[in-house]
Amino acid sequence: MSTIVEVTGLRKRFGDIVAVEDVSFTIAEGEIFGLLGPNGAGKTTTISMVSCLLSADAGTITVNGHSTGRDPIGVKRSLGVVPQEIALYPTLTAAENLAFWGRMYGLSGADLKRAVDEALELAGLADRAKERVETYSGGMKRRINIAAGVLHTPKVLLMDEPTVGIDPQSRNHILDTVKRLNASGMTVLYTSHYMEEVEYLCDRIAIMDHGKIIAEGTLNQLRDVVGGMDVVTVKVDGLADETLDAARAIGGVEQLDRTDDTLQVLTRSSGSILGVLISTLESAGAHVVSVSVQEPDLESVFLHLTGKSLRD
Ligand SMILES: Nc1ncnc2c1ncn2[C@@H]1O[C@H](COP(=O)(O)OP(=O)(O)O)[C@@H](O)[C@H]1O
Ligand SMILES: [Mg+2]
Repeated sequence: MSTIVEVTGLRKRFGDIVAVEDVSFTIAEGEIFGLLGPNGAGKTTTISMVSCLLSADAGTITVNGHSTGRDPIGVKRSLGVVPQEIALYPTLTAAENLAFWGRMYGLSGADLKRAVDEALELAGLADRAKERVETYSGGMKRRINIAAGVLHTPKVLLMDEPTVGIDPQSRNHILDTVKRLNASGMTVLYTSHYMEEVEYLCDRIAIMDHGKIIAEGTLNQLRDVVGGMDVVTVKVDGLADETLDAARAIGGVEQLDRTDDTLQVLTRSSGSILGVLISTLESAGAHVVSVSVQEPDLESVFLHLTGKSLRD
């Protein structure tokens, strides 16, 4: 498959803050590529440079054969952008908002009408098209926001955390929409701090933290980073720091990290360490509230690479 997005050595600073540091990745035509990372990782800054909203301090970006430095108009024509912040006029109806964006993309007449109708259908909101956007739920606004980004059927769609803070129904609708758009031939760059979404959607994933890509590959390649280790999560009351050292010393514990009253243990032998782990904690006076075991997922990869949890 041919490369449609190529990012090399990208860097961006805001004063003393290094928001993006030496970021490189390529996206093949037809892929859904995920950029996964916690808040502040540098995802939006990266997307903003790809979409020519921000200029990079260093590095090159090519989209559909156009360079952001030499041919930003060519880049913008190839892109649809769904920003993190909703960009709709609250007092206009959904149809009017979409028509506005369609005209911005140069559509008019019958083409514009067809594009708006298709976008409303895609958003699942054709029956609410004549209502003002201010009466919509957060999830409905997000769906219209996405529809606005694809009115001109771009080659590449950039989506920046499109499901933050919305109801599960809209969230599922959005994830299905991404799959549908991709099946129709659109390449997608999808950012999120929800690993489940990225696991579900993406052909390849780059994990980002503190402005850098710390791992990249297919889900299976990333799972191999933790070499088949399970994550044991233990919620515990009254845990002393000395007890942590005792728990770390248990045979089979590869890594143990603490966030407040939660312990996360990486292990290849969860079956045999559970009993020892619980008795070690309890005999040191701590109270074990709950225990769960998860198979390796992107959470365990992130934990392994950074020593911290990706979850909120
Ligand atoms: N306009 C800005 N001015 C100053 N700092 C910024 C600006 N935009 C982003 N940052 C900082 O850059 C870092 C990366 O931010 P961002 O790209 O928004 O991360 P993400 O989208 O992954 O949450 C953060 O530390 C953020 O506070
Ligand atoms: Mg962001």
